[in-house]
Amino acid sequence: MTASIDSDAKVYVAGHRGMVGSAIVRELIRRGYSNIVTRTSSELDLRRQSDVEEFFFEERPAYVFLAAARVGGIQANIDMPAEFLYDNLCIQNNVIESSRKSGVSKLLFLASSCIYPRLAPQPMKEEYLLDGKLEPTNEGYALAKIAGLKMCQYYNMQYGTDYISVMPCNIYGYGDSFDPVRSHVVAALIRKVHEAKVSGSKVIPMWGTGTARRELMFVDDLANASLHLFERYSGNDFFNVGTGTDVSIRELVEMIMEVVGYDAELAFDTRKPDGMPQKLMDVSRIREAGWTAKTSLKEGLEKTYRYFLEEVLPNEN
Ligand SMILES: NC(=O)c1ccc[n+]([C@@H]2O[C@H](COP(=O)([O-])OP(=O)(O)OC[C@H]3O[C@@H](n4cnc5c(N)ncnc54)[C@H](OP(=O)(O)O)[C@@H]3O)[C@@H](O)[C@H]2O)c1
Repeated sequence: MTASIDSDAKVYVAGHRGMVGSAIVRELIRRGYSNIVTRTSSELDLRRQSDVEEFFFEERPAYVFLAAARVGGIQANIDMPAEFLYDNLCIQNNVIESSRKSGVSKLLFLASSCIYPRLAPQPMKEEYLLDGKLEPTNEGYALAKIAGLKMCQYYNMQYGTDYISVMPCNIYGYGDSFDPVRSHVVAALIRKVHEAKVSGSKVIPMWGTGTARRELMFVDDLANASLHLFERYSGNDFFNVGTGTDVSIRELVEMIMEVVGYDAELAFDTRKPDGMPQKLMDVSRIREAGWTAKTSLKEGLEKTYRYFLEEVLPNEN
């Protein structure tokens, strides 16, 4: 089904300062949307129901992109499962219910590939949802995301709303965190290789065997996919968003060394865990909807390294 979208209508991007939310704002502007409303978490804490409702009735956005969430790495998820479940349920419940009450005509919810069972066959198809046990280390976060996408479906069924959901693979790029504790794999490896280059270190220590495979997508491609679906799709299907290909950690770090311009020996510490051996999504459904990722991994890494050099490093210390 095709939705009819008006680029003059008011759009609320929840989480506009985050990596994904900021890419969605850039993509909206690129497509000519000019009426974008945002709030930081200190201006509007989306966990507070009455504040969220008040905001929606005051601003009356026509469209909503829900990219605000409590997001974190494995250790944070292990240490604070209650907060990951509670905060994300609150944020999404408040935004989705206030959207319905105030008459939002379309909403897109950002979920995640961690909704799929831990032992799901690879590549993971949308229909594998709820076929098995979740990865225990981020179960709280995944349960909230499953509830969010089900809420969108149930609201469409019961209230006739037009709320859609996307399941992105691992995302990297502009706005990524390069914090040594918080960062995800691409940002962490870019910093590691860059620092080895600066110090002249001949050996780069690596966790695990380097054989684990990951699907990685540049953040602007996720924003492009989100707008592609937002402008064209209405219905109760949700969509995997990825490149459909994966790389091993060894291939990834070799590519990063090429981008950074530094060659060192990789010392894999095989006593450290690899995590899931593979996490690859089946992207047939979004391809059938007319979308494929455009940024190659090499190009995305080059853009991200430039961002690290120009925007991240100068602002440290
Ligand atoms: N990054 C990935 O690899 C990835 C992969 C799959 C799915 N996703 C999904 O994409 C979405 C965004 O992820 P991201 O990587 O962009 O995360 P991020 O960079 O950590 O940004 C999250 C944003 O959420 C906002 N937020 C958090 N708690 C809030 C609260 N209580 N009230 C209001 N705003 C709050 C923050 O706002 P302030 O900056 O104003 O504090 C922040 O801008 C998430 O739903 C995530 O599940 C991300």
